[in-house]
Amino acid sequence: MATRRIPRPAAVAVALCAAALLAACAGASAAGCRKHVAKVTEYGAVGDGKRLNTAAFAKAVADLSERARDGGAALVVPPGKWLTGPFNLTSHFTLYLDEGAEILASQDMKDWPLIAPLPSYGRGRDEPGPRYSNFIAGSNLTDVIITGKNGTINGQGQVWWDKYHAKELQFTRGYLLELLYSNNIIISNVTFVDSPSWNLHPTYCTNVTISGVTILAPVHSPNTDGIDPDSSSHVKIEDCYIVSGDDCIAVKSGWDEYGIKFNMPSQHIIIRRLTCISPTSAMIALGSEMSGGIRDVRAEDNIAINTESAVRVKSGVGRGGFVKDIFVRGLSLHTMKWVFWMTGNYGQHPDNSSDPNAMPEVTGINYSDVFAENVTMAGRMEGIPNDPYTGICISNVTARLAPDAKKLQWNCTDVKGVTYDVTPKPCPELGAEGKPCAFPEEELIIGPHELPKCTY
Ligand SMILES: *[C@@H]1O[C@H](CO)[C@@H](O)[C@H](O)[C@H]1NC(C)=O
Ligand SMILES: *[C@@H]1O[C@H](CO)[C@@H](O)[C@H](O)[C@H]1NC(C)=O
Ligand SMILES: *[C@@H]1O[C@H](CO)[C@@H](O)[C@H](O)[C@H]1NC(C)=O
Ligand SMILES: *[C@@H]1O[C@H](CO)[C@@H](O)[C@H](O)[C@H]1NC(C)=O
Ligand SMILES: *[C@@H]1O[C@H](CO)[C@@H](O)[C@H](O)[C@H]1NC(C)=O
Ligand SMILES: *[C@@H]1O[C@H](CO)[C@@H](O)[C@H](O)[C@H]1NC(C)=O
Ligand SMILES: *[C@@H]1O[C@H](CO)[C@@H](O)[C@H](O)[C@H]1NC(C)=O
Ligand SMILES: *[C@@H]1O[C@H](CO)[C@@H](O)[C@H](O)[C@H]1NC(C)=O
Ligand SMILES: *[C@@H]1O[C@H](CO)[C@@H](O)[C@H](O)[C@H]1NC(C)=O
Ligand SMILES: *[C@@H]1O[C@H](CO)[C@@H](O)[C@H](O)[C@H]1NC(C)=O
Repeated sequence: MATRRIPRPAAVAVALCAAALLAACAGASAAGCRKHVAKVTEYGAVGDGKRLNTAAFAKAVADLSERARDGGAALVVPPGKWLTGPFNLTSHFTLYLDEGAEILASQDMKDWPLIAPLPSYGRGRDEPGPRYSNFIAGSNLTDVIITGKNGTINGQGQVWWDKYHAKELQFTRGYLLELLYSNNIIISNVTFVDSPSWNLHPTYCTNVTISGVTILAPVHSPNTDGIDPDSSSHVKIEDCYIVSGDDCIAVKSGWDEYGIKFNMPSQHIIIRRLTCISPTSAMIALGSEMSGGIRDVRAEDNIAINTESAVRVKSGVGRGGFVKDIFVRGLSLHTMKWVFWMTGNYGQHPDNSSDPNAMPEVTGINYSDVFAENVTMAGRMEGIPNDPYTGICISNVTARLAPDAKKLQWNCTDVKGVTYDVTPKPCPELGAEGKPCAFPEEELIIGPHELPKCTY
């Protein structure tokens, strides 16, 4: 593991509120402890895992959204199993899941109303047209916290996966958490399991911190991406543990002509101290939806175990946009198909209207300090013909091969770059002798600065 770390900002004072001292904390800052606190049971919810609590959650959020204007509000979910249909969050709001609290998503599709597709996608991701609601959602919010004592949000996705495989779904599956046009978001110390599709989907958001989050889905469940920052800026993902059937993290920015038109990049993103297990997908994917552009992603000190590839670029003709200024330092990889994988012919277009002249610009991708063992192939590097991926720098890499490793360790087409101190010996396209690949030294400022340490 790399030992250099980005220096932390000086700790700023935070209010430490024990439940009994809550009143004393009423004056705490906006992102701090909340003045108004209510349990979901106060709105009639029953935590027996059977009673449907959709109305109770809606009533709780509606009531607390009125009160939140004055000092913020927290909704406490006590121990128990709380079955509900989808619900929305509000601003200046904390959703607090106590130890042993589990919010269960209804498995009855009638509880999932249809909503509009995202403007940067133009249609649902699985099917054209509208899509099912997301389980927990919010639009145009500020200052939202989802936290607690590692309670669970359970999407109970099996019914959706079964119907998806059987091609019985007319509309796109919902995501477990989707926030749109929102800023100053903290998601910390909660567990997300069995999402119908993607897990966390911050979209058109700024200032998002996701820390100490566990995400679990069966490794063969369809499209259960862990965290997908989409057309979002200033996102920090740290100390998370993700096991999933698709990419642990996928940075995105809209789909083909819809993403090009919407034109909102994902940028200034930190991903560090992630542990990922995803045998058929990447630890971190950049794309495949990257049509609004992806820039300034800093991945540091990440671990992958039994994962197909590490930090993968997925793009293709028709997608437009760019992937640039990507920095990866410190990868510890155990049992990998490809240590380095770039793809220039990723399929899956929204419709037949993609612009055949919309060529992505993929350039400036630095990897350093990589240790990998039990590797099938070091590098599968495929750019786009007549639109090569350039400015690739790879340094200080040791990949130890699996007993059944490929004879050809690097296969490179339409890529250009340099390497330094890389084993096994790179392909000629990346064979020019470079120097240690740079990683930005200045800290990215991502608000809110400190996690508020409140218990309710
Ligand atoms: C959540 O809010 C969106 C608008 O932002 C709305 O379309 C949707 O119906 C709401 N969902 C629920 C369950 O209230
Ligand atoms: C949220 O903000 C966006 C962008 O400003 C706007 O287009 C949209 O109508 C707003 N949505 C809601 C539910 O207020
Ligand atoms: C949180 O719960 C998950 C699921 O039960 C568990 O895997 C994880 O280790 C827990 N995290 C902490 C910090 O206790
Ligand atoms: C693209 O066009 C073909 C032939 O016209 C049609 O069969 C197919 O469904 C279209 N695909 C999409 C995604 O619209
Ligand atoms: C090379 O990478 C390893 C991690 O794989 C790290 O421990 C070591 O410090 C790095 N060497 C240099 C010179 O940075
Ligand atoms: C090495 O990887 C193979 C799959 O390619 C796996 O079956 C095997 O268990 C791994 N060995 C170790 C020691 O992890
Ligand atoms: C190398 O990659 C090219 C382009 O993706 C592919 O056509 C070719 O089959 C690969 N060669 C081997 C030996 O895998
Ligand atoms: C990657 O590192 C190399 C070598 O230090 C440097 O020349 C290049 O500018 C770096 N790339 C970016 C995008 O900063
Ligand atoms: C993001 O956080 C920074 C630092 O706290 C703050 O200056 C900035 O205004 C925030 N941005 C938004 C859109 O709230
Ligand atoms: C999550 O847990 C960590 C470790 O116990 C703690 O430092 C952090 O403040 C917690 N986050 C929140 C939002 O309470």
